This record gives sequence, C-alpha cells and structure tokens, in this order.
Amino acid sequence: MRLRDKVAIVTGGASGIGRAIAVGFAREGAAVVVADINMMGAAETVSQLEAFGGRGFAVETDVSSKEQTDNMVKVAMDHFGHVDILVTSAAVLEEVPVQDITVEQWDNIIDVTLNGVLYSAQSAIKVMKEQGCGKVVIISSIAAFRGRAGQQAYCAAEGSLTGLAANLAVQMGEYGICVNSIAPGIIDTDFAESLKDNPEYREFRRAHTPLRRIGKPEDIVGPAIFLASSDSDFITGETIVVDGGISIYTNGYGL
Ligand SMILES: NC(=O)c1ccc[n+]([C@@H]2O[C@H](COP(=O)([O-])OP(=O)(O)OC[C@H]3O[C@@H](n4cnc5c(N)ncnc54)[C@H](O)[C@@H]3O)[C@@H](O)[C@H]2O)c1
Repeated sequence: MRLRDKVAIVTGGASGIGRAIAVGFAREGAAVVVADINMMGAAETVSQLEAFGGRGFAVETDVSSKEQTDNMVKVAMDHFGHVDILVTSAAVLEEVPVQDITVEQWDNIIDVTLNGVLYSAQSAIKVMKEQGCGKVVIISSIAAFRGRAGQQAYCAAEGSLTGLAANLAVQMGEYGICVNSIAPGIIDTDFAESLKDNPEYREFRRAHTPLRRIGKPEDIVGPAIFLASSDSDFITGETIVVDGGISIYTNGYGL
C-alpha cells in the first residue's frame, strides 16, 4: 500500500475523476476527506470506499470560498491530526461563444476552476508547512494548451493552473511540499458534455486518439497515486499529460 497512514483531501470527490481518485487512494491505505458541494455524491463516494474497508468522510465545501476551504482543512485536522495530500479536482465548465459570455459566467468558471485551486492549496499548505511535508496534485486539463470554441474561460483557468502549480512548487520546495499537476484529455464523465448523445463525436475522438479509446476516470488514478506517494519525492512543478496521446498526434483533434 503506497499511501498507508496518509490523509488526503480530494476536492470535487463527489463524482468522476475526483471520486475515482478518492476510492483509489483509499485502496492504497489513505484516509480520504471528500470535499464537494454535492453532498449526495460525496456520501456515495464515501460508501464506495467503506465497502472495501476504506476510511473517509464527506465535508460540504464550495472551493470558491476561502472560508470554506479553511474549514475543509480544519475538519480534516480535527479528525486525523494531519493532512498529507491535497488533490484539487473540483471545476466547472460552460460552453458559451466568446462574444456572448457574460461577466457572471466568466467569473463563475474562474472562481471555481482557478481561484478554488488557489484557496484549497493555501488552506492545505499552511498545515503542510508546519508538518514539513506534503503533496499537492492539481487536476488541470489539456485545455491548458489547446483551444476549443466556447471554452475561453475554462481554457484560461486551466492554462493559469499550469503557471500556478509551477509557482507554488518553487515557493513550497523548501518546506518539503511537492506541487504537480495532471492534465487529462477528454475523460468519460458528466463533465465531458460534448461526448453526450453524440456518437459521431465520440467516434471521432476515439479514432484520433493513438491509444484508440476515450479516457476513463480510472486512467487518472495511477498517475495521481504516483504524484501523491513517496515514489515522486524528487518531482515538483511537473505536469503529466494523460490523454491517450491525442495531444501529440499530428493528424489529431484540433491540430
Ligand atoms: N472529464 C473530462 O473530460 C476532463 C478533461 C480534462 C480535465 N478535467 C478536469 O478533471 C476534473 C474533474 O472533472 P470530472 O470530469 O471528474 O467532472 P465532474 O463534473 O464529474 O466532477 C467535478 C466535481 O466538482 C464538483 N464541484 C463543482 N463546483 C464545485 C465547487 N464550487 N466546490 C466544490 N466542488 C465543486 C462537482 O460537484 C463534481 O463533483 C476537473 O478539474 C476538470 O477540469 C476533466
């Protein structure tokens, strides 16, 4: 077990990639705090990990509020006395043509997808600094490096996360805290609206992916365990792209 006795907080752990990571971490021995606005989904994640003897609980957290991310870490500390790992998977996405996007729509995506990562990291890093160790794993996206029509706010947030991860890594290194990110390609969750009810697009993406399939939430779990475990102790400020190779395929989507 690579995360035995570790305590992990997973934001966005109520569904999709966050849930898969929460369950995967519990299988590796970590106690997991599932932080999300969706408490029904968070409770389901906790029951999935308890089903095989894993430990964890849910904390209602809106990551766009610093007060709430502070509370998320406080509750984890009150229960377990330490926080070793933070995974940020909470995000929102709305596709609106750039000429039509409102200030409110832009702000909502930036508040959750970018600011929410900063607030979660600030809250956790405070504790990790005192501990003298910690691992922060930011789930970003290949949207950080590629454009898609209507996703300007999301792409801006994801691109900024790459810079934020590198900056936090530089500042936190002397405290023994590693900060890395994982940039998934399209993954089959509710988040990937473009795949829904669109078999032609699904097939297009599959056919243009060198590994010839659409990603699953479980594809992100191994890289997340690696970045959260001591196997990656001398790696910081890095981004691992997990996209079946679509980004490097010269005839691929968007190229
Ligand atoms: N699915 C994809 O195709 C894909 C591709 C690249 C990157 N990603 C990234 O992966 C991460 C997870 O996406 P997913 O596919 O699992 O989506 P998802 O919708 O299944 O999960 C997102 C979770 O974030 C939670 N959330 C939303 N707003 C929140 C808030 N204000 N505070 C706390 N929690 C909030 C939701 O309730 C949900 O549980 C995101 O960071 C996303 O940018 C996803």
